[in-house]
Amino acid sequence: MSETSADRDQYSSLALLKRLVREHGRQHVRSYLLAALLMSIGAGATALSAWMLKPVLNHMVDGEGFKTLQFLAGGVTVLFFVRGLATWGYQVVLARTGNRIVAGVQRRLYEHLLQQDMRFFHSRHSTELMTHLGGAASGVRDALQVVITGAGRDVLTLVGLIIVMIVQDPVMALIALSIMPVGGYALNRLIRRVRQSARRSFAGSAVILETIQETVQGIRIVKSFNLENTMRRRMNDAVREVERSVNRMAMGQAISSPISDAVAGIAIGAVIFYGSWRVSIAGADPGSFFSFVGALLMAYEPGKKLARLHLDIQNGLTGARMIYEVLDTPAQEVPQEGLPELRVSAGRIAFENVRFSYREGESVLDGINLVAEPNATTALVGPSGGGKSTIIALIQRFFRPEDGRVTIDGQNMMDVDLASLRDKIAFVSQDIFLFRGTIRDNIAMGKVGASDEEIINAARMANAHDFIIGFATGYDTNVGEQGAQLSGGQRQRIAIARAFLKNAPIILLDEPTAALDSESEREVQKALDSLRHGRTTIVVAHRLQTIVNSDRICVIENGRAVENGTHEELIAAKGTYHTFFATQFGESATPVKFGAATRSH
Ligand SMILES: Nc1ncnc2c1ncn2[C@@H]1O[C@H](COP(=O)(O)OP(=O)(O)OP(=O)(O)O)[C@@H](O)[C@H]1O
Ligand SMILES: [Mg+2]
Repeated sequence: MSETSADRDQYSSLALLKRLVREHGRQHVRSYLLAALLMSIGAGATALSAWMLKPVLNHMVDGEGFKTLQFLAGGVTVLFFVRGLATWGYQVVLARTGNRIVAGVQRRLYEHLLQQDMRFFHSRHSTELMTHLGGAASGVRDALQVVITGAGRDVLTLVGLIIVMIVQDPVMALIALSIMPVGGYALNRLIRRVRQSARRSFAGSAVILETIQETVQGIRIVKSFNLENTMRRRMNDAVREVERSVNRMAMGQAISSPISDAVAGIAIGAVIFYGSWRVSIAGADPGSFFSFVGALLMAYEPGKKLARLHLDIQNGLTGARMIYEVLDTPAQEVPQEGLPELRVSAGRIAFENVRFSYREGESVLDGINLVAEPNATTALVGPSGGGKSTIIALIQRFFRPEDGRVTIDGQNMMDVDLASLRDKIAFVSQDIFLFRGTIRDNIAMGKVGASDEEIINAARMANAHDFIIGFATGYDTNVGEQGAQLSGGQRQRIAIARAFLKNAPIILLDEPTAALDSESEREVQKALDSLRHGRTTIVVAHRLQTIVNSDRICVIENGRAVENGTHEELIAAKGTYHTFFATQFGESATPVKFGAATRSH
């Protein structure tokens, strides 16, 4: 409980503002000073033009000062030019600085994301992070901008005009100013409402993006299961929520106008009443009075803006709050200095009493012991959910073991440089992932700066070259979002070519369960056989052919390695593997080593 109140303090408006100023304001202090200077020039020009109303009026009344009036008319024109130029200048400076801040926040946020571990990504939807990068990052800029224009332009202008008012008539100034706090108080009451709505509108926008993304990526399922209505409902709900909260925000912000107008009306009315009494009855000079009223009217706009400063800032602060919530999640994969590089000589991978769970109390690996010998293929087989993919993930240090250790050639992989570890591993995942771009781009991801020749070579070895050049645009064929324009087997072979190009001593394959037709299965199989050559390979095997072609088979069940040996040994032992094999492939399955496998059911 105390944590939530601490959270509230940490992300309160004031704390956030201080942090924004500390982290971004200081860095751009020169630009902001320049903007402030320009703003004060503008504010000075405004105050001066109000002050000039006095000589203008007084000279008009006495009818003799036409020369002075000509001079004053010219002066006012110049003042307005100066004010225009100063406004242009500070707006340009502020916009550029603001955009630099947004860019900086986006870079920083992305950098922070890259340093997060799997758990972070598994607990969030991608669109949530997209709204952070987009809308919320601009929130940081907007919040700062509102404060700076508020503090700079509006406060300065107001101060200048108030000085003019005090100089012209101190009593009237007191009357006019005493009413200001009333307006400020009324406006502040609106803030909570606006803040809540801002957060809801961000959340709603994330759901809108999420629905669009799922519709595009899952369009086959959406159409095939007639999910249009379900998706439409989800979209409508989100759109309605956003519309409602944006409306509520607009309403909160709009209601500030009638409040300010009412307050200002009272102040101006009182001033006119008192002022005309002073001029007509008590014989004060009309110039001072008009100059005062001029200053008061000019002060209305900046005063109103200042009064709703707190309100206007809420939207930006909501964005800033969301950004900081992500930035404050400790980065789990920060590059650590001083760790030795992983050196792979033979490539022997060993799990020693490794325990691991994704959620507390739900053990997934339960003290597992396992060895993958160099220059050999170790197949992991076993029932779904047994922990095979988890083993593959732990070798790549996607998660850290809770107990026990994973070693590669005797080096505990928690104690070596993370990048050097992942450099030595080529991974083909259970669900193939392709990046945006062409086939060439996707294979090239395997090695920075790979030449065309290397890419084609890798594709040849992955048995992908022939189908690739079969396309009219060859290697430049677009793969579509997540490879949507390719067949399942083609996607797999591109992923294998990518792994080939990486030329790593350790190969991890998580075999897709989706049955390929026997022709493409053979193609993929041939590709895999050549990939495994001369390396340490661990393959999560679902296909008969992969299993029997492995050097060792390891049966994973309930987070333990329950059996270990060659296919023949394990069949002869008539244990778990024998049962597993019989139920998977039938009693009569006769595996053919390195031949055309025929799958029996
Ligand atoms: N990110 C995750 N968060 C929570 N639990 C998870 C996560 N990933 C996997 N699990 C759970 O861990 C267990 C082991 O999963 P794992 O993916 O290792 O199984 P598997 O042996 O590869 O299964 P399959 O043959 O179906 O691919 C399962 O019970 C699964 O529900
Ligand atoms: Mg799996």
